[in-house]
Amino acid sequence: MTAGSANEYFELAGRVALITGSTRGIGAAIAEEFAEAGAEVIITGRSREEAQAVADRIAEAGAVCHAVAYEAGVPGAAHDLIAALSAHVSKLDILVNNAAILRPHRVGRLSEAEFDEVFGINTRAALFLCQEAHSLLVRSESAAIVNLTAACAHRPIAGLGAYCASKAAMINFTSTLAQEWAKDGIRVNALTPGSVATEMILPKDPGERDAFEAEMASQNLMGRLAEPREIARAVRFLSSPAASFMTGQTMIVDGGLLA
Ligand SMILES: NC(=O)c1ccc[n+]([C@@H]2O[C@H](COP(=O)([O-])OP(=O)(O)OC[C@H]3O[C@@H](n4cnc5c(N)ncnc54)[C@H](OP(=O)(O)O)[C@@H]3O)[C@@H](O)[C@H]2O)c1
Repeated sequence: MTAGSANEYFELAGRVALITGSTRGIGAAIAEEFAEAGAEVIITGRSREEAQAVADRIAEAGAVCHAVAYEAGVPGAAHDLIAALSAHVSKLDILVNNAAILRPHRVGRLSEAEFDEVFGINTRAALFLCQEAHSLLVRSESAAIVNLTAACAHRPIAGLGAYCASKAAMINFTSTLAQEWAKDGIRVNALTPGSVATEMILPKDPGERDAFEAEMASQNLMGRLAEPREIARAVRFLSSPAASFMTGQTMIVDGGLLA
């Protein structure tokens, strides 16, 4: 890479980015961050209307934004998503596997249906979306995949065993895909957030939030939860020319939770 201004390395102008689960939380923040960096962005959620509403909001600031419905738990969904995407774009530069579910399970009592639901959305869908997206990613001059994992993939938590293992599997797949696809010019990295203030973890009852947040905040060195944009900026880094020599890695952005 030739020398350029510092900001140039973080620009995403001309890049097409698909972010799964981008109707809210970290996924929506990634979509906003990418759009501000100049990328053309594809929003997905189970409801096309909800995805379109987010796409319209982001497009108001001048970005090119599309919305596609995607239910990760349905076999064949990855194929259908990439087919739908091909109507809008001829290449893909960035794939962010962000969509996931968190379910409380005791591994010792986990049912096959519960296992299949968590692994089906968090691991199976993400892996097969990488596969399906390959044909569009190889048309990019600088393709990057970022898989969202979780701190509990590194340090498992009793009661969340299936979720933790589904994310640990994605760290493993990240490494093997990076090894297999480096020759195709596709970088593959994972991003491990710590506790982030989103619907995924915050209690639905507002009366329980302060105590919950204080408990989560006490577990990391920064003494607070992350805002979704703090994770989105790290995903932008991994997706950008600034990370051009980085592949097969897991970047941890957790406020020191795992330190
Ligand atoms: N929040 C945290 O503290 C935290 C910590 C570590 C890791 N993470 C990881 O960060 C990522 C984003 O988490 P978040 O906190 O932003 O979660 P969130 O607020 O619950 O948002 C999840 C997103 O995934 C989509 N989604 C859920 N089920 C889906 C399905 N079956 N098919 C397709 N899309 C589906 C949702 O869209 P619809 O509901 O509109 O379909 C939504 O856009 C996840 O991979 C999560 O594991 C989060």
